[in-house]
Amino acid sequence: MAFDYMTAAEAAEHFKNGDTVGLSGFTAPGTPKFIPEAIAAKAEREHAEGRPFKINLLTGASTSDHVDGALSRANALNFRAPYQNVPDLRKRINAHDCHYNDRHLSEMAQEVRYGFYGKVDWAIIEAADITPDGEVILGTGVGNIPTYAMLADKIFIELNEALPKALYGMHDIYIPADPPRRREIPVYAANDRIGSPVLKIDPRKVVGIVRTNSYDGVKAFTAPDEVSKQIGANVVDFLLSEYRRGGIPKEFLPLQSGVGNVANAVLYDLGENKEIPPFMMYTEVMQDAVLSLMRKGKCTFASTCSMTFSDDTEKEFFPDMKEFAHKILMRPAELSNNPEVIRRLGIISMNTALEADIFGGINSTHVLGTKMMNGVGGSGDFTRNAYISIFSCPSVSKGGLISNIVPMVAHADHSEHSVDIVVTDQGIADLRGLDPLQRAERIIENCAHPDYKGLLLDYLKLGKGGQTPHSLTAAFAFHNAFNETGDMRNADFSKYC
Ligand code: COA
Repeated sequence: MAFDYMTAAEAAEHFKNGDTVGLSGFTAPGTPKFIPEAIAAKAEREHAEGRPFKINLLTGASTSDHVDGALSRANALNFRAPYQNVPDLRKRINAHDCHYNDRHLSEMAQEVRYGFYGKVDWAIIEAADITPDGEVILGTGVGNIPTYAMLADKIFIELNEALPKALYGMHDIYIPADPPRRREIPVYAANDRIGSPVLKIDPRKVVGIVRTNSYDGVKAFTAPDEVSKQIGANVVDFLLSEYRRGGIPKEFLPLQSGVGNVANAVLYDLGENKEIPPFMMYTEVMQDAVLSLMRKGKCTFASTCSMTFSDDTEKEFFPDMKEFAHKILMRPAELSNNPEVIRRLGIISMNTALEADIFGGINSTHVLGTKMMNGVGGSGDFTRNAYISIFSCPSVSKGGLISNIVPMVAHADHSEHSVDIVVTDQGIADLRGLDPLQRAERIIENCAHPDYKGLLLDYLKLGKGGQTPHSLTAAFAFHNAFNETGDMRNADFSKYC
């Protein structure tokens, strides 16, 4: 079938107020960049003429400033799910200008298929190539596009000429059957391929193709600061001691690691460690650090939802891609983050918290309990099902004004029933097999900053018994002290005695 080629601005004219749009990709990679920006420009024109114009946007995870940034600045988002990390969108969400439904990433596609989000009008797909009969080679990220493309009435393709055709073979596209007919997901090892190397779409749905030529725009990570390095070293010490005592099998287990500096520091240290054998990753995001581990032979395979490489790494990697074709598989989020597979493979998960409480509860999403930061992302998918689930954060933020170890988290994303290990720059608390009081003593002793240890012990003394000895009147004394005085160290537990 012959497709129509057009500009992004011409494509944007097809979108109407209230349309629901599903995008390919996961983080910036694989995410269309030009049509969403043109939709934002259309929204601005419509608003200037006094007409309402907002769309509902479904993605794989975070996107980029071309999407969430541009559409938020244009106030063109009515609804957004499942994860974001762009400051302009964060402002809209916290001001209730955009309805944000923060979902576990593994659940999004199936919930769209179940009809929980209504009808999908459009899918926009970034592609490296498309055949006349609708076989699409996706770009550097997959997300939930298999489901969005299957359900959408109409499709636009952004054909990105910067993407090498050698991406063919690096995707594993698979949609599980829906209940009550779902069977097991047949991934028995991180490197099992179960689906198709191409996304098959109905070519009759394609309204047009927009030619583009662009790298993903991911910034290179800065070198980890001292605190991140210390956290990374603590995580590696833990993994090593666990490996030595036989708590991790001889051949090691696949790792999941979140994004950011700590994740990079951990992976770097693991790569340098001679005792830890080569390992696989079963993760949602593969950063630059994993590629260098692959080059060293330390990481033998990565199952991921996207290759979130910086532009410099993409430029170096694209011509070299064939060398990695059998070492990387990009899968839809419902596979990369699949709870059944995570539990079967025995993934060691490593994620970052905003704050942890002394009993092991984790807040990953809400600053001081109310303001949305990014979202829960895949942290719940992995934490709840991991072989060992690790959370890390610096012991303090904002130069010590905030303790990231608090009496009770001001928003609960992960409960103490799922969290095994808490790590800060101060040390490690292994919570496995401990009761709540033992967990509290260990977290305060090993993870809290010295400025806050005494205060946390004072809090613990307030509890009037019960399995988890909280004081419900004093549980948020740290947060209240920060809101009232700008410093959590001003929490005063004597008034609750
Ligand atoms: N209270 C208030 N503010 C806090 C805080 C706390 N307890 N802890 C951190 N902050 C502030 C920091 O000071 C920083 O502010 P600044 O930007 O003004 O300096 C900001 O919050 C976040 O710090 P940042 O350096 O961006 O953190 P990060 O890159 O380590 O990310 C999360 C931490 C929790 C925001 C991030 O990991 C996340 O979104 N997690 C949820 C999703 C997820 O885990 N996905 C898993 C797989 S990818």
